[in-house]
Amino acid sequence: MIRKMFAVVTGAQGGIGCAIVNRLLSDGFFVIAIDKTDRGIFSEHKNVINLSCDISDEDSVRTTFSTISKKCDRLNVLVNLAGINHKSSIKDMQISKWDNLFRTNVGGMFLTVKHALHMMKAGKNASIINFSSIAGHVASKDYPAYVTSKAAVESFTIGLSKELSEYGIKVNAVAPGWVNAGFTDAARSQSDNPDELEEAARKAHLMGRMAEAEEIASVISWLANSKSNFITGQIVFVDGGLMRVH
Ligand SMILES: NC(=O)c1ccc[n+]([C@@H]2O[C@H](COP(=O)([O-])OP(=O)(O)OC[C@H]3O[C@@H](n4cnc5c(N)ncnc54)[C@H](O)[C@@H]3O)[C@@H](O)[C@H]2O)c1
Repeated sequence: MIRKMFAVVTGAQGGIGCAIVNRLLSDGFFVIAIDKTDRGIFSEHKNVINLSCDISDEDSVRTTFSTISKKCDRLNVLVNLAGINHKSSIKDMQISKWDNLFRTNVGGMFLTVKHALHMMKAGKNASIINFSSIAGHVASKDYPAYVTSKAAVESFTIGLSKELSEYGIKVNAVAPGWVNAGFTDAARSQSDNPDELEEAARKAHLMGRMAEAEEIASVISWLANSKSNFITGQIVFVDGGLMRVH
């Protein structure tokens, strides 16, 4: 059994996930890095365990947390980062795509909390951090399932903060604006004119740019830390002022 501070991060091998894992490692955590696709990142790191898990599948989540419980006797931090998006107008959206997105973005977060809870209750000053997005707040077309799922992440966060307060577990959500990683890299590689994306980001954010993944990770670091112990049930916007422009 390893003895130190333990953090689980889902979607750990994605663009934002890598920055969060690196930040938590530099904060002194032992990190259990969960992802559906193991790209071998962190495989050589002595303070990381990579686990393949599909968070939308309860058997996979149950098995993963059972493995974790054999290695750690408690969890201090759970970062529910894994998520997918799907571009489609409502007219063309297939219900199977809608269901799959909800099973991942909303159901996955519910399942990890459900199966991590007994270990989080044993962790001192435990912290759960869910990933929302400004997409749940501003009018955007062609992502109906994604924007609705992110609003659901926030409602779940608020309800859970009450349910877990008796154990001293704080529960918050982070809502980034555009981040220069992950989904944005994918959009950039599919775009005929990637420069347009930078120009749109300049106009969309008061700060005149999108966030770097490390700037999101530094907020996760603070929410994972006991310095934020009186913060719970909150949606923390890390959006460079985007919400004030719209
Ligand atoms: N990039 C942005 O601009 C941005 C902005 C706001 C919010 N977000 C949120 O940040 C999170 C991470 O996004 P990213 O940009 O790093 O994207 P990403 O695609 O690089 O990372 C997502 C990770 O989740 C994993 N994943 C997907 N489905 C999974 C499943 N069923 N089980 C386990 N793992 C699964 C993927 O393999 C991937 O590694 C998402 O929740 C997204 O909604 C991103």
